[in-house]
Amino acid sequence: MATDTPTPGPEQREATEQAAAAGTPTRSLADENANARAQDIEQRMTDDERFSLVISILGHVPGGLAGPRDPRIPEDVENMSAGYTPGVPCLGIPAIQSSDASMGITNPGYRPDDEGATAFPSLIALGSSFNPKLVRDEGEAIAREARMRGFNVQLAGGCNLARDPRNDRNFEYFSEDPWLSAVLAAEQVNGIQSQGVVSTLKHFTLNCNETNRHWLDAMIDPDAHRESDLLTFEIAIERSQPGSIMSGYNKINGEYASGNHHLLNEVLKGAWGYKGWVMSDWGATPEWEFALKGLDQESGVQGDRVLWGKEPFTDDLKAAYASGRLPKERLADMVRRILRSLFAVGADRWGPPPAVDMAKHAEIALEGARQGIVLLKNDGALPLPTDQPLKIAVIGGYAQQGVVSGAGSGAVAPVGGFAGVIKIGGAGVMGKHRNLFLFPPSPLDELEKQFPQAQLDFDPGYTPAEAALTAKRSDVVIAFGIRVEGEGFDLPDLSLPWGQDAVIDAVASANPNTIVVLETGNPVSMPWRDKVRAIVQAWYPGQSGAQAIAEILAGTVNPSGRLPITFPASLHQTPRPELPGLGTPWGTAVTIEYNEGADVGYRWFALRNERPIYAFGHGLGYTAFDYDDLRLDGGETMTASFTVRNTGRRKGADVPQLYLTEAPGDRRMRLLGFERVELEPGESRRVTLTADPRLLARFDGRSGKWRIADGTHRVAVGKSATDLILTGATRLPARQFGV
Ligand code: GLC
Repeated sequence: MATDTPTPGPEQREATEQAAAAGTPTRSLADENANARAQDIEQRMTDDERFSLVISILGHVPGGLAGPRDPRIPEDVENMSAGYTPGVPCLGIPAIQSSDASMGITNPGYRPDDEGATAFPSLIALGSSFNPKLVRDEGEAIAREARMRGFNVQLAGGCNLARDPRNDRNFEYFSEDPWLSAVLAAEQVNGIQSQGVVSTLKHFTLNCNETNRHWLDAMIDPDAHRESDLLTFEIAIERSQPGSIMSGYNKINGEYASGNHHLLNEVLKGAWGYKGWVMSDWGATPEWEFALKGLDQESGVQGDRVLWGKEPFTDDLKAAYASGRLPKERLADMVRRILRSLFAVGADRWGPPPAVDMAKHAEIALEGARQGIVLLKNDGALPLPTDQPLKIAVIGGYAQQGVVSGAGSGAVAPVGGFAGVIKIGGAGVMGKHRNLFLFPPSPLDELEKQFPQAQLDFDPGYTPAEAALTAKRSDVVIAFGIRVEGEGFDLPDLSLPWGQDAVIDAVASANPNTIVVLETGNPVSMPWRDKVRAIVQAWYPGQSGAQAIAEILAGTVNPSGRLPITFPASLHQTPRPELPGLGTPWGTAVTIEYNEGADVGYRWFALRNERPIYAFGHGLGYTAFDYDDLRLDGGETMTASFTVRNTGRRKGADVPQLYLTEAPGDRRMRLLGFERVELEPGESRRVTLTADPRLLARFDGRSGKWRIADGTHRVAVGKSATDLILTGATRLPARQFGV
């Protein structure tokens, strides 16, 4: 029963920690009671009630895409958001009210009186934490803030792979690796659903670029797809049982995601036996026939009116049903899937609204920022002394105002409002949502707190020359580099906009004692990196980002973030130096061939012997760790155990990573496991990681099976994909498995 859960004690926290690591769903779609109720109630519904359940209606935002308030949303519904579906109260079916998204409860104008929500760090920052329990805690907190507003579906669980460092939505996804993304996305879903709120996983699938996404055809080898983006969804679904899967805008191998019979009916619902419902993205349903190809609900029907000139799941679907082209059983299945998920998660039987402890949520947001910040470079400049009267220049990045958040449907308006919103604009329906959002408090204010003896001198970084003069007269320079990234756009390259690279180069030339802090949603090219002493990647760190940045620069917090995405030295190292379709007019059809297949990110760099600037898994701290005594066990899969030791002088966290480096006759790199360990100075811990066998295998689409090859498999334990410390090998017998 999803009622208000008391604050867990230490023993429960331990249990949750273990559950998070093991990936234990907090709700199960196999719940027979939910299934039986869904069957029973569906049979008692009228056809009109069935049809009303298979669409959702976008809430009204003044001047927004949806236009005026839709009359199908009753006048007494005040807490509007992304989606509204009328319920059937006499049958115990609640109205379905869905909200975005993975970083908190969004409100781009739906609810003028909403005082704001906790703005959690971006998913790529949480991805950098490599901490499943932290992500689960964040999911729980988001769900509590959803429930207090009456939202029973949270459109979270973004888990597309960061295949392309130019994808402006990578901040809404966890990483470039299937295992890391699946484990963390599952925990966000588990946290959300533990509170009786249905979560999605999205965007199914291969929604890895944003350029002309409604007309983008993503091409990939089907077996490689099963070993990468689909494997991410497959594992995350097993570990979290999300009530719904959201299909993306793009096509995959010529068929729209929302109407992709192979992926929806044959893979998701067939091979994997998924029992929840498939909702489309908002404006991703061009035709009613998608109902025959696996789509169960058309979302945001106004989006389809704008893009496709109709609402396929209203008049067209009814006509198809009347003519027998839509079988009664299919409509019943669409409805039952929705009901089963609502009942299995407990969204139909909430107890009293949960206590929402916003101070606790702020703590989770702060901890997420602290653990998500990655120290990329440090020649000893950090941490800065806090007890000296230093003259510190703080340059650029609107550091006097706030920290940057990502733009688009996932952007959260924090409690108390933004510190600033600067309109950027751009093509297409998302242009009006492309803004520079700044969260208070400002890094400058937080640095003042951490460095009470220092004299801080802010310079806007408006021109290189002016900034260089400020730098020259300072003891230390903290230069900020920011970039606005958001849904609906891809970056043209990896440079910082507005001439920031020239500013950073100028200040570092004027004063080599320069530290750079980045607030971006993706890797950047950093042409100035050899001129600066330290580089901190803060991502979009959420409402507590400024505090976390200042704490790390002062050494109050020991950084422990690890990169969830490779930082290329150049786009020429990546599979697609030129991004097809970039800059073409809105509405132009684009085809992107993901020829790297399953070799995404670090896997591609390993295959091609390319050296990135900073590797997947890389991250420094203020202590040191070493690993030894690797033991391997073979059999049906691979288990590795080894000892991690903190050899430094202060407490810290490390994230040892286990990689496959070679399979028989196949030099391929795969992350097999990871664990974040916190150790006191001198403390050591034995870590044991067991690989999901699919990570050791290749997928054979002809047989529908996974195959592990007979022979020697080489592995390594590393601090990153290129910093491998322990190596070993073991023989695995040939094995074929899978559905
Ligand atoms: C958006 C996004 C999706 C979001 C939905 C509702 O366009 O692609 O992630 O949940 O529409 O706002």
